[in-house]
Amino acid sequence: VSIDWETEADLVVIGGGVAGLTAARTASLRGLRVLTLSKGGATDTSTQYAQGGIAVVAPHGDSVESHVHDTVEAGAGLCDGEAVRSIVEGGQAAVAALTDLGAVFDLARDGQISRTREGGHSTRRIIHAGGDATGAEVQRALNAAGLPVLFGAAACRILTGPAGVQGVLAVSEKGFGVVHAPAVLLATGGLGQLYALSTNPPGATADGIALALWAGASVADFEFVQFHPTVLYTPGGVGRRPLISEAVRGEGAILVDSEGDSVTADVHPRGDLAPRDVVSRAIAARMRALGTDHVYLDARAIDGFAQRFPTITASCLAIGIDPRSDLIPVAPAAHYQCGGVVTDTHGRTAVPGLYAAGEVARTGLHGANRLASNSLLEGLVVGERAGVAAAERLAERRQVTEIAIRATEYADREVLQELMTTHASVVRDGAGLAEAMKRLDDAVTPAEAESTVARRITGLEDAALTVAARSLLLAASARTESRGCHTRSDHPAPDERLRRPLSVVLDDDGSP
Ligand code: FAD
Ligand code: SIN
Repeated sequence: VSIDWETEADLVVIGGGVAGLTAARTASLRGLRVLTLSKGGATDTSTQYAQGGIAVVAPHGDSVESHVHDTVEAGAGLCDGEAVRSIVEGGQAAVAALTDLGAVFDLARDGQISRTREGGHSTRRIIHAGGDATGAEVQRALNAAGLPVLFGAAACRILTGPAGVQGVLAVSEKGFGVVHAPAVLLATGGLGQLYALSTNPPGATADGIALALWAGASVADFEFVQFHPTVLYTPGGVGRRPLISEAVRGEGAILVDSEGDSVTADVHPRGDLAPRDVVSRAIAARMRALGTDHVYLDARAIDGFAQRFPTITASCLAIGIDPRSDLIPVAPAAHYQCGGVVTDTHGRTAVPGLYAAGEVARTGLHGANRLASNSLLEGLVVGERAGVAAAERLAERRQVTEIAIRATEYADREVLQELMTTHASVVRDGAGLAEAMKRLDDAVTPAEAESTVARRITGLEDAALTVAARSLLLAASARTESRGCHTRSDHPAPDERLRRPLSVVLDDDGSP
């Protein structure tokens, strides 16, 4: 590629959501010159859409022990106990830092911070803002910090030399550019666009997964995609779907099928507030049994619903449903990537100078299934630590001298989404995964040199989705058991021999 612009930084942060901006702010406060790249605008993040809240140990009637226990239980045997403890312990300080920055959380009548409950939590520990607009408040507070962000700039490759990271190749409206930097943090969010229906924004195209794999880092627990049980159902179509927060069930709503029967009775002692994988599987099974494509959430008994859940009320009213008097039609949809780029709890990957934090990273906090509202927590805690860790690399500054880019390939996005939705959703089996892998192989073509910026960004996203889809199918095929949010109908039980993370790296020819 020919380079149209160049600049320099101590740290390049890729992504302007909770993890990226928290890291950027921390590193800036420590005197690092930080440049954040964001391929979208200031609110084109999953962070913006977060509803239920942030899980953080409550001052009374709660403990680190209890939050660790709930996290590990939801994680179905694959959490890294030390990582869980370390991140949970960091919660209160991380929230205090966010409050110092101006974030305002909802208060209860007694003037204390209000706390709600979600699936898998044994107590009310989830703090929230604006009722059901927690993410918008977190994003607002971080955006207001006024950090330098290059919007509309997409990172295409991490540039490395013998001593590790040397910079980033990016594309913006000024063309291709190089940011020379000894440290790069991936904070690119998730992979919702691998599926036809998702709660994620359009930019959730697994770019960070591809960038990390292309740079030689590894990805683990990638088969564990969390399908949120209650996403607003509308017939047909593809794309982003509004979420109906689990906090709605936390405040008393119940899940019923088209016959009016409970969906989760007898499935789990916590019923509708069982961990998310359990509830999504129960819904999928009930929909199959009844031949329907959705179930219902009955929230009519919740007092003051519209005040407590203004975002959800607006989404429902927009399709002619009034949650105060109507049942809300819901179905599971792709929501969260539990695995990702392998890091420690300071965001360090195995590639010197490459860090990852937030949804793109796999710290070991989530294991096989993330506990509700532990994601914003992780973004805040690990984002801050990664911002500190990046200073380790200041002495390693080198100018980029060579840009060697491995050729990539991509599949048509609709074809890829159809394959993943049909064969790698809530319930999978070996034959379906093999079929998807074969049809994906048949569908890929070498990536082209695109002429416009928009097409270059879409081309990058399609190449990222393709390598991510292959990695996921491979990991899901290798995990011949059911665990957490990976359910195999041909291997319905957990297998103790597989109670370990499965990693994906790229071969010399670029395939996972
Ligand atoms: P994001 O916030 O997604 O930010 C990613 C950033 O990376 C964006 O700025 C994007 O433009 C940028 N980017 C991506 N690729 C590139 C590239 N190649 N170059 C440059 N920039 C790039 N979690 C909770 O804990 N509590 C909740 O209540 C909650 N509710 C949720 C509700 C919804 C509807 C959704 C979708 C998620 C929810 N989650 C919740 C999950 C949580 O919001 C996300 O996991 C978290 O916000 C991810 O933050 P992040 O910083 O990792 O990424
Ligand atoms: C929700 O509000 O149900 C989403 C919470 C989460 O994804 O952690």
